[in-house]
Amino acid sequence: EPEVIRDKEAMRRWSRAMRSQGKTIGLVPTMGYLHEGHLSLVRQSLTLADVTVVSIYVNPGQFSPTEDLSTYPSDFSGDLVKLAAISGGKVVVFNPGNLYDYGGGERKKVNNGGGGGGGGRVVSCVEEGGGLGHETWIRVERLEKGLCGKSRPVFFRGVATIVTKLFNIVEPDVAVFGKKDYQQWRIIQRMVRDLDFGIEIVGSDIAREKDGLAMSSRNVRLSDEERQRALSISRSLAMAKASVAKGQTSCVELKDMIIQQLVGSNGRVDYVEIVDQETLEGVEEIKSGVVVCVAAWFGTVRLIDNIEIDIS
Ligand code: PAJ
Repeated sequence: EPEVIRDKEAMRRWSRAMRSQGKTIGLVPTMGYLHEGHLSLVRQSLTLADVTVVSIYVNPGQFSPTEDLSTYPSDFSGDLVKLAAISGGKVVVFNPGNLYDYGGGERKKVNNGGGGGGGGRVVSCVEEGGGLGHETWIRVERLEKGLCGKSRPVFFRGVATIVTKLFNIVEPDVAVFGKKDYQQWRIIQRMVRDLDFGIEIVGSDIAREKDGLAMSSRNVRLSDEERQRALSISRSLAMAKASVAKGQTSCVELKDMIIQQLVGSNGRVDYVEIVDQETLEGVEEIKSGVVVCVAAWFGTVRLIDNIEIDIS
C-alpha cells in the first residue's frame, strides 16, 4: 500500500527530498472515494512524472451549507487498496487533517469532517471565512461565474484556493485534472497562467461506466431507477455530437433536444450550455471547438457531464 502522509510539513519535506534526488512530481488532487476516473488521472500522472502525490481531502471551503459536505462518501482503506494496485511504489497519499487549521486562536471553532481530521462540528463556508479561520481566497473572476458557478457561488473560490494550498504544500511539476469537471479544469489552468505558478496542468478524458454514465463519487447515491434515468445525460450529449456531425449548427436546437431528453427522463435541469472550450462563453452557432455542458438533478443527486465537439 502507498505511504500515507498526513502532516503538511512532512509532505513538503517529502517533495523537497524527491526534488533533490532529481525526481519530478505529479499531483492528483481528489476528495477520495476513488473510482476508475480518479485512477485514470493517477495513471496519466505516472506517465508524466517520476512520482505522484494523490491528495485525499474533502475540502470544506468548496461546499455551501446546503450541500453534502457531511455526507460526502468516503472509504479511505478502499482507496489505498485501489492505489496499491496501480502505483508500483511510485504513489504517496497526502491525507491531511483540517488544512484551514493554522494553530491560532480560531482553530477550536472549526473541524473538518474529511480525511484524518477528527470529529466535531462540520463547517462549510459561504461568505468571508464562514468559520474556517481563513480569509484569503482566490477568485478566477470571469470563468467562475457561469455554468456551475451560477448555482454554486462559492464553489470555485473554494476549489481554486484549496488547489493553490495543495500546490504550495506539494510543489508539483505537473498536476492532472479531469475534464469531467470541465470548468474546474479551465479555472485551474487560467489561475496557473495568471499567477505564474510554474506547474503544468493536464486535462484528462472523462471515464465512463459501460453504459455511458460519467463516473462520479456521487453516483452511489442514485437508486437503480434514478441511475437508469440519469443515462439520458450521456445519451443526449452523444446525440448532440452526432447531430453536429450531420450538419446541425444551431445551439438553440441542440440545447432544446438535450433538455427534452432530460425532462423526459424526469431530470431537473440546472443548466444546458454550449460554450467555447477556452473562454467558456456561450455560443449560438457551432463554428469552432465547443463543449456542451449539462448539470441536472436526478432525485437528490446533482450530476454533471459534458462533451467536447471539435470542428475541423
Ligand atoms: P473529486 O470530485 O474527487 O475529483 C478529483 C479529480 O478527479 C478531478 O480532477 C475530477 O475532474 C476527476 N474526475 C472525477 N470523475 C472523473 C471521471 N469520471 N473522469 C475523469 N476524471 C474524473 O474535483 C474535486 O474532487 C475537487 O474539487 C478537488 C479538485 C480535489 C479540490 O478539492
